[in-house]
Amino acid sequence: MAYRSLRQFLERLEQAGELVRVREPVDLRLEMAALADRAAKQGGPALLFESPSGGRLPVAMNLFGTRRRASWALSCDDLEEPARELQELLHTAPPQGLWEKLKMLPRLGKLASLTPKHVGSGPVQELVEREPDLSDLPVLTTWPHDGGPFVTLPQVITRDPETGLRNVGMYRLQVLGPRRLAMHWQLHKTATAHYRAYRKRGERMPVAIALGGDPALTYCASAPLPPGVDEYLFAGFLRKEGVPLVKGVTVDLEVPAEADVVVEGYVDPRAPLVREGPFGDHTGYYSLADDYPALEVTAVTRRRDAVYPATVVGPPPMEDFWMGKATERLFLPMLQMVFPEVVDMSFPPEGVFHNLCLLSMRKEFPGHARKLMHGLWGSGQMSATKTLVVFDDDVDVQDWSQAAWRALANVDARRDLVIVDGPVDVLDHAAPAFGLGAKIGVDATRKWVEEGGREWPEPCVHPPEVVARMDQLYERLVAGAGRPRRMSLAAPPAASWTPRKGTG
Ligand SMILES: Cc1cc2nc3c(=O)[nH]c(=O)nc-3n(C[C@H](O)[C@H](O)[C@H](O)COP(=O)(O)O)c2cc1C
Repeated sequence: MAYRSLRQFLERLEQAGELVRVREPVDLRLEMAALADRAAKQGGPALLFESPSGGRLPVAMNLFGTRRRASWALSCDDLEEPARELQELLHTAPPQGLWEKLKMLPRLGKLASLTPKHVGSGPVQELVEREPDLSDLPVLTTWPHDGGPFVTLPQVITRDPETGLRNVGMYRLQVLGPRRLAMHWQLHKTATAHYRAYRKRGERMPVAIALGGDPALTYCASAPLPPGVDEYLFAGFLRKEGVPLVKGVTVDLEVPAEADVVVEGYVDPRAPLVREGPFGDHTGYYSLADDYPALEVTAVTRRRDAVYPATVVGPPPMEDFWMGKATERLFLPMLQMVFPEVVDMSFPPEGVFHNLCLLSMRKEFPGHARKLMHGLWGSGQMSATKTLVVFDDDVDVQDWSQAAWRALANVDARRDLVIVDGPVDVLDHAAPAFGLGAKIGVDATRKWVEEGGREWPEPCVHPPEVVARMDQLYERLVAGAGRPRRMSLAAPPAASWTPRKGTG
């Protein structure tokens, strides 16, 4: 079901016991982030801070913080459902390029209702301020050395001045003054390409920033759709209903009619850049201060009952892991259109997306794993993946322990590592240059004779019928007798450990 507002989503969470209302005074500086950090790390509930200081709008955090909530946010019970639908669609659409098919969605008869709908008015413009003060919004400072308060869950709407096509990206925004924001769109992102195009034309760039509304829209701003594929069309596909859009009050851009808040303004590409950051980032480190364009705000519009959505990124796992999980599941069928040999992929949280991707594949010829690596390093945002580990199709890449065991066993350091140079994520502080560095591919597949493999052993696996019978017996003997099913391999916590007498 499509949510008419962020509040409607919050109501659903509350009914399911997945929302906690925070009425205690909690500071916008550090405290809200620290509480949400804890909730995210423990798979805890979404948080609604009802009355931030200064009578500012309520703040919602950790909305996507579990697989269940991330699924509900995308109007499904589990992320595999839209992934399956997408796979079916991609297989039934006429055989053209991958993204062409997605652009064709609206033309495919029954899907016409999924395109954005243009409406005359919407709740997001119930209140209009043409001389706004951004400090009226409850913008959080999430880490102690941050350069200031940052908007962390925005949908940044821009348009390509050449083609007129819209882009919606999630790029954090630093509040620099009552009507000024720093725009952290990174070097390789679509809005940066739009900015370059406006700079070339010597024209001001209109920008609108939507906050809240149906959480599917928020997710879509983070989805790595290629330039020219409208994020709000993709949101329409997920929520099974076109996104209603209304014209901005001071910019010639359309904004989601049911969003909670919209900040409108323009970036003048002829104006000097401004200092942005530092910011406690999703790598778990601070990204250093750097120069980015400034947005001059011309209006803030909002619902009467607006809620301000926010997240905190930092040392993993965090809420954004679940947004990344949605991307992993939804983009697998799209990746498989180009690389049909791919069986599954997974991004363990410690890899913070761009540092580690595990892939399983159906290997069909010598060097196939390397072909796949190079293909991925040439594809959209996958090109920034610092470590790619490729497995055979009998490895479950969602089981990180199994993947580590198989990779460590199957790799010869001289033969199976591939190191290439190229663009890397701009947040990679280890890269020798900004946005440019080395990436490593690990071929953890079974090596064929042509690849320098010798006779290759099989992994040890019991026959399934034996496993099924013995699982039952184990349950009866162990779990049924009240013993714990699993024992932890970890050492006991230091506080509960006391040396035995005589052991020194
Ligand atoms: C919580 C969160 C914060 C993000 N912040 C930024 C950011 O500040 N700058 C940036 O370039 N990308 C950021 N990203 C990643 C982009 O949203 C992502 O790469 C997206 O696909 C970019 O869209 P585009 O391809 O339309 O440029 C963030 C993602 C998430 C989930």
